Amino acid sequence: MLYISPQTENYMAVRGQFSNKLGFIMAAAGSAVGLGNIWKFPFEVGQGGGAIFVLMYLIFCFALCFPVMVTEIAIGRKTQRNPVGAFNALGFRNWNIVGKLGILSGVLILSFYNVVAAWAFGYVFEMAVGHFNVGAGFGSAESAYTTDIVKIGIYGIVFMTATAFIVNQGVSKGIEKATKILMPTLIIMILGLVIYSLTLDHSMKGLSFYLKPDFSAIKGKVVYSALGQAFFSLSLGMGALITYGSYVSKKDNILSSAALITLMDVGIAFIAGLMMFPFVAYMSNGTMEGVSGGPGLIFAVLPGVFESLGTIGPVIGAIFFLLLSFAALTSTVSLLEVPVAYAVDEHGVKRKRAVWLVAGLIFIIGIPSMLSGGYSEFFTGFIQYVKAEKATDFLTFVSDTASDTFLPLGGFLITVFAAYAWKRNNLEEELAQGASKYKGSFLSKYISIAITVVCPLILGSIFILTVLSKFFGVQIFA
Ligand code: PFF
Repeated sequence: MLYISPQTENYMAVRGQFSNKLGFIMAAAGSAVGLGNIWKFPFEVGQGGGAIFVLMYLIFCFALCFPVMVTEIAIGRKTQRNPVGAFNALGFRNWNIVGKLGILSGVLILSFYNVVAAWAFGYVFEMAVGHFNVGAGFGSAESAYTTDIVKIGIYGIVFMTATAFIVNQGVSKGIEKATKILMPTLIIMILGLVIYSLTLDHSMKGLSFYLKPDFSAIKGKVVYSALGQAFFSLSLGMGALITYGSYVSKKDNILSSAALITLMDVGIAFIAGLMMFPFVAYMSNGTMEGVSGGPGLIFAVLPGVFESLGTIGPVIGAIFFLLLSFAALTSTVSLLEVPVAYAVDEHGVKRKRAVWLVAGLIFIIGIPSMLSGGYSEFFTGFIQYVKAEKATDFLTFVSDTASDTFLPLGGFLITVFAAYAWKRNNLEEELAQGASKYKGSFLSKYISIAITVVCPLILGSIFILTVLSKFFGVQIFA
């Protein structure tokens, strides 16, 4: 693509734009809704002690992440650039390091995300043939499935290729359309499974784990994992929404779009939890054993549930994982779009070339994560954090670093930038475009306080807490 300055009238037309406001919302919601909601959220809740984690997560999403989200979209729309170019375009070259950190986070996240997406995608076929005990021993380094490196490798290549193929087409109509149909289908399916889960034995035990907070269970880990999860789930802190914001029209209302995206994302995570915990209770005969089992949770629990459905089990199971794979695809697309937009805009690489090069590179970076599900002892027991009970595998290590640490750090830096470098009246100006009643409203006051005080303070302190307690074993509170 030729480089065209943003001042040029047809810049938007050349760069590509979402077909309309709904297109942007669907694409951004597509980025937000993915494995984070259905795979990561339940296992994080399981490890974080249940309802108390859910509560922290909800507070973080609405109070802290929402202001970060509108800020990212506003920076993107204002500058029409990728996360690095955006800071340059606003005249703050020194700050483009924030964009660079975001690109690094995106690369790291996609490297392991593609592996989990490959697991999920492979499950479509496993379920279809009624192979329901695939997940047995998942996470315990004994699963025949995750250690079948040829299979996972092939699914991984297929998934990354599909992602690259879609990103290659630019901001694509196809994906907007598909999202509009497939996302509601996924929601209906989860709701159906929620109803089914409530009919099973011990379901109330699962629900109470999920919904009844035990305040004595608050620990540093719960706080930072909930924050990391909120950022990860909403695709924040790495400039994905700066990039998507760059395709949004000046006429659109950023605030209402962001509110819808947040509600949709949080809503889907919430119902995924409603479905999962009664299932865990059912599968564990009411003991909730295995609930803190980590990344293998849905892969270990869901097959047994589909099996219990009888003859329609294979069909339901296969459709479920197919829809989940699609949800993952709309997220991997946004993850790949960030480094690609950077390479194209800032380094003049041709789009097609950038897409395939970056996708190939990220696939290679993901290989150790692929091997860390039991295949390679070295990567499965990759690192022992100070004072940790057991070793952490490579995939979890990358996720800990990129999503629990870098994303909230990115969010912190983005709010500090908007408040103290770019200045909040400029942000307000941009947000008011397309939202005529915004200026002077209660919401504008909240966003202003959030980005100047609340977000910098809380995100900054949690960042320090995370690094100290996660990697160095220093416990600030019990
Ligand atoms: N939000 C996605 C999910 O929950 O699956 C993951 C993700 C996508 C994170 C895009 C960050 C991002 F930029």
